Amino acid sequence: MTLPAPASRPSSRPASRPPSREDIADLYRELGRRGLNVGSSGNVSARRPGGMVITQTGITGDTVRPDSLVETALDGTSAGAPSSEWQMHALIYAADPRAQVIVHTHSDHATALACLNLPLPGFHYGVAEFGGDDVRIAPYATFGTPELARLAAAAIAGRTACLLANHGMICHAPTAAGALRAALKLEALCRQYLIARAAGRPRLLTRAQMDAAILRYQNYGHTEETT
Ligand code: 13P
Repeated sequence: MTLPAPASRPSSRPASRPPSREDIADLYRELGRRGLNVGSSGNVSARRPGGMVITQTGITGDTVRPDSLVETALDGTSAGAPSSEWQMHALIYAADPRAQVIVHTHSDHATALACLNLPLPGFHYGVAEFGGDDVRIAPYATFGTPELARLAAAAIAGRTACLLANHGMICHAPTAAGALRAALKLEALCRQYLIARAAGRPRLLTRAQMDAAILRYQNYGHTEETT
């Protein structure tokens, strides 16, 4: 099941201060520092009226600067060279008002699971934090294409993360800090699932158990600092 977030859910509120260019550059740099992205893999954006500010294509955690981020409209109009995945970000912003910051990574364990072409099932209640009883996987399509954007938008619909087959993951949150936490959490869960699979056959939680966890997450730990 996928529960729509109630209007009063604090985590669905945009942050009181929209993330600055510094926040977004810091976030992309931090993903590299923590090993979630290597070189120019992955990208990050923040919602802006009518579009987004997104990392430049080919930028790395070592070279990203606040002024290298590219303002890009939802139709792709831009004065610079936005990430090749701007369409994936644009479709998610267009579909889900909760998305204020989007992170795409090629982090090791999320990518390993995506290369097995497997979703992340409800093996641990923490999976429910992403809004459903699993984290779905979008079928493979070439990076930077409208086809990949369409498949990713469908897989993440109503949720806050999905895997991308033979590619990586994408997630969103109301704040830059929340998006970093979500990326780290998804990577940890994928790692734990792969460890459990290597050791045996993980027992999956039942639909009712996952539904109960989804409900608990509606009111779990949502403060200005934790969203
Ligand atoms: P960009 O450098 O164009 O953002 O592409 C990186 C990437 O991860 C493509 O999927």
